[in-house]
Amino acid sequence: MDYQIEIRHADLEPIQFRCDSSQTLIDAAKAAGFKLASTCLRGGCGACKAVVISGTVTALSPMSQNHCLSDDAAISYQLICVAAPSSDLIIETESPWKTRTVNPLSARLG
Ligand code: FES
Repeated sequence: MDYQIEIRHADLEPIQFRCDSSQTLIDAAKAAGFKLASTCLRGGCGACKAVVISGTVTALSPMSQNHCLSDDAAISYQLICVAAPSSDLIIETESPWKTRTVNPLSARLG
């Protein structure tokens, strides 16, 4: 099943794309033409951390809980390189993304 994803950043227009429940948010964004901040892509470094404003995610592989903590108890970070949606999502990130041109054939193949 796939879900509607919206990612927000304080200085950018929100981006939207679809993401299957078996796909990481980073991979779905990349397929849609958006390169989100990341480094390890294994849930270990925290470079991709983002706050879930609404909706829920599922971890497809282990994620470092140290990077999910916040000084504000109301904020819980998710590492979107290993997280997949389990509902429609609105996410906010502190790191800006880059937009890339998507090869039409790649976009069709997902
Ligand atoms: S890129 Fe390192 S935790 Fe996601």
